[in-house]
Amino acid sequence: MDLKTLLSPIAEDMLGMDRIIRARLSSEVALINEVGGYIVSAGGKRLRPALVLLSARALGATGEQPRLLAAVMELIHTATLLHDDVVDHSDLRRGRRTANAQWGNEAAVLSGDFLYSRSFQMMVESGRMPVMRLMADTTNAIAEGEVLQLMNAGDPDVDEARYLRVIELKTAVLFRAAMQAGAIAADATAQQVQAMGRYGHELGMAFQLIDDVLDYTADPEVSGKAVGNDLAEGKPTLPLIHAMRAGTPEQAALVRAALSGDGAPQLDAVLKAVDATDAIPYTRALAEAYSLSATAALGDLPDSPYKKTLLDLASFALTRAS
Ligand code: IPE
Ligand code: IPE
Ligand code: MG
Ligand code: MG
Repeated sequence: MDLKTLLSPIAEDMLGMDRIIRARLSSEVALINEVGGYIVSAGGKRLRPALVLLSARALGATGEQPRLLAAVMELIHTATLLHDDVVDHSDLRRGRRTANAQWGNEAAVLSGDFLYSRSFQMMVESGRMPVMRLMADTTNAIAEGEVLQLMNAGDPDVDEARYLRVIELKTAVLFRAAMQAGAIAADATAQQVQAMGRYGHELGMAFQLIDDVLDYTADPEVSGKAVGNDLAEGKPTLPLIHAMRAGTPEQAALVRAALSGDGAPQLDAVLKAVDATDAIPYTRALAEAYSLSATAALGDLPDSPYKKTLLDLASFALTRAS
């Protein structure tokens, strides 16, 4: 099933969330409007706002507030993408040139700052102190994750545990926060907030594991992002960590050299080692385990179309090509 069909129970909410984002992007500064409008209108899956809305509605929330908080999550996500593409020297995002490729690093970083702080203005409007606390902690953790990843770059000794910590901080915490913010908007119990957060965390882990697979296997026409970027940046993601661990000494040495930037980059040879060591199926299997654990977290949630969508999203995270 495609994502749009999957999200049909919240179709109206998604449109409402999008209207809020467009209305709140505006600034008196033309370049901010241009950069913000450019990346937002390129689309994207809008997964994090969908999680806010599904969590809120599954727990019985009514009214407009979930849409505002959903818009907040997407703006924060978009801000991190603007910054991430500068750090990763990426030039393709959502099928378009990245903002840094189009306007330069300075404009991309500063526009990201604008989106970050605009999202906090909107959160204050919600009047929900627990959400503000949650998002203060969450954005702080994302920044830590991105810096930790930067420190790990080019280091072939990063092991699976250190890798998992990076993806937890840079990706899973925002998925968790989206689910928790929805639950808070539904005035849910602490136990419900925790269960929703657990689903979000596990889904986020699966999602980033697959993202790291797609960086080696995707069709850029479909994914809208370049392939081989992670290797070019010296990122020790799980496919490479596994290839070094399970490969022959020659294969391990080859991947180590590619990661640490010794010698000419050899994407083809690295891909062969990744293939020969079944590093992609290994990474996918771990993503499956997280996905399963996400669905388990919803055990006590009453049945509804929203819950069904959350369960389906756990599968989507594994099968997605973009
Ligand atoms: C990209 O997230 C960044 C990661 C955490 C892998 P998405 O794949 O959700 O990006 P968009 O919003 O759909 O473009
Ligand atoms: C996720 O990591 C980025 C953020 C959490 C901001 P990636 O660097 O793998 O994301 P993509 O592949 O650029 O979307
Ligand atoms: Mg990146
Ligand atoms: Mg990636």
